[in-house]
Amino acid sequence: MRQIFICEVGPRDGLQNAHHLMPTGAKQAWIASMAAAGIEEIEVGSFVPPKLIPAMADTAEIVAFALTLPALKVVALAPNMKGFERAVASGAHKVTFPVSASRAHSLANVRMTPEQMVDEVRKCVRLRAKGGPEIEAGVSTAFGCTMQGEVPEDDVVRLAVMLVEAGVDCVALADTVGYANPAQIRRLFRKVKKEIGEKLEAAHLHNTRGLGLANALAAYEEGVRHFDSSMGGLGGCPFAPGASGNVITEDLVFMFESMGVPTGIDLDKLMEARKLMVAAIPGEPVYGHMALAGVPKGFRAAA
Ligand code: COA
Ligand code: ZN
Repeated sequence: MRQIFICEVGPRDGLQNAHHLMPTGAKQAWIASMAAAGIEEIEVGSFVPPKLIPAMADTAEIVAFALTLPALKVVALAPNMKGFERAVASGAHKVTFPVSASRAHSLANVRMTPEQMVDEVRKCVRLRAKGGPEIEAGVSTAFGCTMQGEVPEDDVVRLAVMLVEAGVDCVALADTVGYANPAQIRRLFRKVKKEIGEKLEAAHLHNTRGLGLANALAAYEEGVRHFDSSMGGLGGCPFAPGASGNVITEDLVFMFESMGVPTGIDLDKLMEARKLMVAAIPGEPVYGHMALAGVPKGFRAAA
């Protein structure tokens, strides 16, 4: 039984920031191979203006394909009501909204203040018909921002409370620019959990300063069981200067499996999926210690 729930965000967070466009067919094959490796949730794209992020122009087609894969939870990002309507029309199981705790990043990313973005999310929650998608709010730049610098923890807590009051199903805390350290992760997850309880679900971590896994472990020790990560450590927000790759899925899976904590993911099959990804965006920088070193002798996956 899996105890850790990994949402692979490479096809969205990764490809939105890649130098190379991955063709639609290759995206589909890659997503299918990750699902076959046991990844149960994939953020397959975003419903943003195609002119703004051309790599996401085929998201509706990608969602349609992903919905044919058995037992896969299909997630798409939406930055506003129009994106939400497109996501609903696509049939995605879950929609995630980026709600930045930094005013500067919020304006650069979605051209709305954090408060305006909460209102936009509230409208989408109200618009959602019965049987509509699950709605997640990812609190971006929760641990600091390359534009604003420090992001007060009280601002993050307040925003999380406002989002729950707006009716979202779950909240994630995102270290968009890789500023977080493990002590900060512990403190902020604890503070937010005190206010919104089980609605606080996921950690979305970036490895920009090499602390991705350390931060994931700290979040785990605070009770977090849902993690976003990206294969090959692709990733980064194009509207947050200096943002780079997510915590690396392969390495995250290895960490938990070797600790005896099952992820439901087959590491060998995951490495096969990685090969498809690397071949589909040749020349794109990819990362990962597992890919370099392989599993240790005697490695046993968690039961
Ligand atoms: N999907 C497709 N088209 C959209 C859209 C969406 N989600 N939202 C707006 N548009 C279209 C509008 O219809 C309008 O089209 P027109 O010029 O043909 O009339 C045009 O885009 C401008 O609309 P507007 O509402 O003024 O948007 P904007 O230019 O202020 O941009 C966002 C606002 C939110 C759409 C944009 O900033 C965005 O997509 N941000 C997300 C960035 C991102 O993905 N960051 C990384 C993930 S965290
Ligand atoms: Zn991210």
